[in-house]
Amino acid sequence: MPILVTGGAGYIGSHTCVSLLKKGFEIIVLDNLCNSKENAVKCISRITGKDVPFYPYDLRDKESVRSVFEKEAIEAVIHLAGYKAVGESVREPLKYYENNILGTLNLLECMREYGVRNMIFSSSATVYTGALDKASAKALTEESPLAVTNPYGRTKLMIEEILRDLHQSDPVWNIISLRYFNPIGAHESSLIGDDPNGIPNNLMPYIVQVASGKLEKLNIFGNDYNTKDGTGVRDYIHIMDLADGHVAAMKKLNDCGGGFTAYNLGTGQGYSVLDIVNTFSRVNGVEIPYVIAPRREGDVDTCFADPFKAEQELNWKAMRNLADMCRDSWYFQQSIS
Ligand code: NAD
Ligand code: UFG
Repeated sequence: MPILVTGGAGYIGSHTCVSLLKKGFEIIVLDNLCNSKENAVKCISRITGKDVPFYPYDLRDKESVRSVFEKEAIEAVIHLAGYKAVGESVREPLKYYENNILGTLNLLECMREYGVRNMIFSSSATVYTGALDKASAKALTEESPLAVTNPYGRTKLMIEEILRDLHQSDPVWNIISLRYFNPIGAHESSLIGDDPNGIPNNLMPYIVQVASGKLEKLNIFGNDYNTKDGTGVRDYIHIMDLADGHVAAMKKLNDCGGGFTAYNLGTGQGYSVLDIVNTFSRVNGVEIPYVIAPRREGDVDTCFADPFKAEQELNWKAMRNLADMCRDSWYFQQSIS
């Protein structure tokens, strides 16, 4: 029976669909294409040689979501659909609450109506960042304090709480929340990758556009953080490792009889912005001109995962290194330039 992947045409969703199909799972994609293109769904089919039923529906339109459950015998849902730009969420909080929260509520109601109780939810390391202690840089475990600093992060934390309540109300609900750290890179085919609209917010999409000459230089947001070289440290993870993490979580979901559990998906290794710039230049032979700019509001010094729980319980571990991530990001950018 198929898995419904909401947001399956997006960056993380398209790679996750490839991993699932390669491991023999059947999938259906629902995506309103507000931040992706239908071509990504075609590329998933091209890479895997499998058909991908696609519904270009909006989660906020409950009747159309219900029609998918009516038509298809869905066994589980991987829920990635949502808005994700932190800065925009501060300027337009209602847009974020409406899309991320209302979309999730509609989806959960349809799942309940059609007896589908298995879900993997796309959460984020952002659920920890509001509680980070600036004086210390410790790996974040799933037990680390949770606190957020912006409406986007609040939607992730709220949805986790909704899911926890749901499981408490009916223990048959079987839910895994995956807290992603910083995915970068692309599938080795370069057919799918991260291709944001407009000027990129995130580091790697910005770097590749500087490398291709589309943008003039990188602005490094602050070099006075309490880190080895003063620039922000994050846990970058190859998108295909992250995608494989969903396969591992789906296998775990199939083995358990109900619960709500959160897992970090990260490598456990922190790299600074300068590490990324230097590795990208070395691996790809392209210089990245940069200037030091003021700090970006809301950024923290250091954020990296303790991935032990996922290793132990999901039998999953990130395998690719930073050079792989930089190389695959650049190959993808060249393929679309
Ligand atoms: P993305 O924007 O590439 O993918 C999200 C997809 O959801 C898009 O294809 C978009 O068209 C679709 N979508 C949005 N609202 C929808 C709606 N109402 N109905 C149907 N489809 C809708 O983003 P991504 O990077 O692939 O992120 C996927 C998920 O992972 C998001 O929930 C995001 O918050 C979360 N996440 C991402 C990161 C990251 O660094 N990329 C980190 C942590 C968590
Ligand atoms: N950075 C720059 N210049 C840029 C962009 C980013 O110096 O043009 C720096 C940031 O200051 C930070 C690092 O690069 O130190 C990473 O920034 P990103 O924007 O790529 O990633 P964030 O860690 O800020 O946030 C991302 C997603 C969030 C998610 C979080 C999870 O945007 O949605 O990872 O860790 F919640």
